[in-house]
Amino acid sequence: MKKLFIKTYGCQMNVYDSARMAELLAPIGFCPAATADDADMIILNTCHIREKAGEKIYSELGRLKQLKEERKLTIAVAGCVAQAEGAEILARAPQVDIVVGPQSYHRLPEMIARIARSGGQALETDFPALEKFDALPNDTSPGGASAFLTVQEGCDKFCSFCVVPYTRGPEYSRPVWQIEEEAVRLVARGGREITLLGQNVNAYCGEGPDGKWSLAKLLGRLARIEGLARLRYMTSHPRDMSDDLIAAHRDLAPLMPYLHLPVQSGSNEILRAMNRGYSADDYRRLIDRIRAARPDIALSSDFIVGFPGETDRDFAATLALVHDVGFAQSYSFKYSRRPGTPAAAASKQVSDDIQEERLHHLQSVLGEQRSAFDASSVGRVLDVLFEKAGRRAGQAIGRTPYLQAVHVENAAPYIGEIRSVRIDQVFPNSLKGRLASVREKAMDH
Ligand code: SAH
Ligand code: SF4
Ligand code: F3S
Repeated sequence: MKKLFIKTYGCQMNVYDSARMAELLAPIGFCPAATADDADMIILNTCHIREKAGEKIYSELGRLKQLKEERKLTIAVAGCVAQAEGAEILARAPQVDIVVGPQSYHRLPEMIARIARSGGQALETDFPALEKFDALPNDTSPGGASAFLTVQEGCDKFCSFCVVPYTRGPEYSRPVWQIEEEAVRLVARGGREITLLGQNVNAYCGEGPDGKWSLAKLLGRLARIEGLARLRYMTSHPRDMSDDLIAAHRDLAPLMPYLHLPVQSGSNEILRAMNRGYSADDYRRLIDRIRAARPDIALSSDFIVGFPGETDRDFAATLALVHDVGFAQSYSFKYSRRPGTPAAAASKQVSDDIQEERLHHLQSVLGEQRSAFDASSVGRVLDVLFEKAGRRAGQAIGRTPYLQAVHVENAAPYIGEIRSVRIDQVFPNSLKGRLASVREKAMDH
């Protein structure tokens, strides 16, 4: 057996892809390595979203070069940097054997055989998404309690700052039958929760038994799978939050009350320059409708500060939106100039000092909102799906319906199951609770 180590950067779609690559390479003799040091093959599954993400790869490749000088090692670069800079990577880093884009990794076994046969470097960066999903193996080994399932890939939105439409290609939705089959398999392997993934997951529009199905319809179908207790989806675009999807948050019990709906900015001018296709008030109204359907829903968002042309007033508008909406969780970033995107050419770039200052300000406000949300859970009894063992003996870590991580003592026997937990304490990145009785659960309002 040869040993494979995959290092994953970027979003959940890459996490999903890394798991699929491991499954794909198992039949040709690769088993997982614990660390890069004892691997025969290392795959870097890369992210191109911000400049720092791309730079990391070249420094990592520098380290791997040394490793390769000492012993035999196959190095592959997969993911979005591979897609964006494939030929450049091969030229700049001769130690790399394989470059494979996110839509082509089903060709890895053939590429590995090719370089073993005739040496040299191999490059595949086409966009045959359909072929890729058809070529994936049907794995039946035990999986985790919470699983990812990619249902949609690519993006047609072309926000002016973003590389994804270039690295992941055009929008493509997998057919309903294929998703259902994979979901059933994940549940048979122990999955209790499935998060449907897509760069624009709520733009899902896949072939169903009677024509095209929306994400809401797909969720309705998956909600009927026996043993599947929880459904989530990400990432959504505010423009594709359709009425039937909002209604699904009211009607589908397994659909968890948590929604990641990135707004990016609260300024109409900036939203327009970003090509987001909605105004700040459109977003506010949308949130009102979602909350009317599911009052306890926890909201999360991504924000970009220091987009080209962003003034103090624009930034104040973002703070006002944050104040109006109230987020349970958030991710915020300094705008990063990405070559080839329209915003990179804008003349009014914001200085790093101002970006830094705004990021700091925004993150302190978002941090307060998050703490307040977590604090509101104390004393409540919430369902927790236990996913893994904690650091202390007998301890287990799980998640609430609102995606908060919870540590619970004496819960190790319940890994893979949902139990009622009384929340006792709040820490910066997690909650602490104890197992609760059914009666306590009934009394929680
Ligand atoms: N499809 C999702 C976002 C995918 S990228 C959506 O439309 O919301 C994940 C996040 O990275 C984005 O929401 C954005 O906040 C951030 N991001 C993308 N490009 C960026 C850039 N050039 N600079 C800084 N942040 C960026
Ligand atoms: Fe990027 Fe915009 Fe597409 Fe999201 S919707 S992936 S931010 S281009
Ligand atoms: Fe990064 Fe590609 Fe995901 S650029 S965020 S890994 S789609």
